[in-house]
Amino acid sequence: MLGINNKEETIPVNPTYHHCKFEVPEIIFGRGLFHQIGPCARRLGGKKVFLVSDQGLFDAGWVDRAMRSLLEAGLSFVYYDQITPNPRDFEIEAGAKEYIRQGADVIVGLGGGSAMDAAKGVAILVSNGGRIRDFEGSDKITRPLPPLVLCPTTCGTGSDVSQFAVINDTERRCKMTIMSRCVAPDISLTDPDTLATLPDEYVCTTATDALSHALEAFFSMAATSLTDVHAIKAVRLLSGSLVKAVRERHPDDLENLSRASLHAGMAFSNSLLGIVHALAHPIGGYYDANHGSVNAVLLPEVLRYDLPVVTDKLPELAWGLGHLTRGESGGAAEMVQETVETLLEASGAPRSLRSLGVAWEDLPDLARKALKDVCIVTSPREADEMDLLRILEKSY
Ligand SMILES: [Fe+2]
Repeated sequence: MLGINNKEETIPVNPTYHHCKFEVPEIIFGRGLFHQIGPCARRLGGKKVFLVSDQGLFDAGWVDRAMRSLLEAGLSFVYYDQITPNPRDFEIEAGAKEYIRQGADVIVGLGGGSAMDAAKGVAILVSNGGRIRDFEGSDKITRPLPPLVLCPTTCGTGSDVSQFAVINDTERRCKMTIMSRCVAPDISLTDPDTLATLPDEYVCTTATDALSHALEAFFSMAATSLTDVHAIKAVRLLSGSLVKAVRERHPDDLENLSRASLHAGMAFSNSLLGIVHALAHPIGGYYDANHGSVNAVLLPEVLRYDLPVVTDKLPELAWGLGHLTRGESGGAAEMVQETVETLLEASGAPRSLRSLGVAWEDLPDLARKALKDVCIVTSPREADEMDLLRILEKSY
């Protein structure tokens, strides 16, 4: 009953909060700390860094700055950017071959969830061998990973602190969730200044991913008093800054989103998630759809489904969203539902699965696949295939 590192059949449930287990990496957070990448990698004993990032970060100049920091720290590096959004199994396997061929000994992942999850995937394979799909599920990794530094440059993924890696299985057309404390990095380094170059649409879609993380972590059957603190902190930061950050991009609001992502990441890494992510994973695998956009679309209907069974937690959440004072309960469900929907609407998040290119005739198959996703295990309300299908149809 202690957490996610047990086998799947024993994962939850700790509704009374009597037992807690909380894992986090070393965290370094603050504007102007980007140059710490090199010293962090060196501190972990590395000599040749396998730097995983993508074209967007390269074009924005951050990869170049990372390379300079590594060189100034006396390290050599190999740069690997053969990854795409929703990183694919074969990209991870090619990266692992390159890591071994080049004789690298430490990994730095720089970017959004895709770059960081790809870095985690490479780390798994270079130390454990096999195919990446061999590690799907809970605790399949048996050998320790090489040193890992993760630097998030979006405001939502949480991969930099989480015990998860999500990789696209191209044969089965679904996203695999790999769950192990081994994939939490040694160091999570966040410089919110990197958000200054994040394209507008990603500010919204990654922050709505963080909002989904916070809400699902808060309602999770594996939530504890330790995860609740971080979930509510994330919700408060997001409700205060999400819309302003999207519209005005003031550095203080962007920093709040970055901080919210970190808090939400710490929460969901330790409490797992729920139906939003269980459904979002097969949708991402089918359509290569943007993860945060899918979550933003699903969140209102999943909330409507969950709220009747989580009433005892709603006053605190309503407070997190800026309503009521702690302890009041009148109308909390309506307030939560309305505030989340208003937040999504005002931030310009997509509102329908149809607009994301999802085909109506695929919905039954997506519901079936979601039932097998590990995130369904900690949903506060049980759901069968028909329940999931109904949520998808209402979100269409
Ligand atoms: Fe997510």
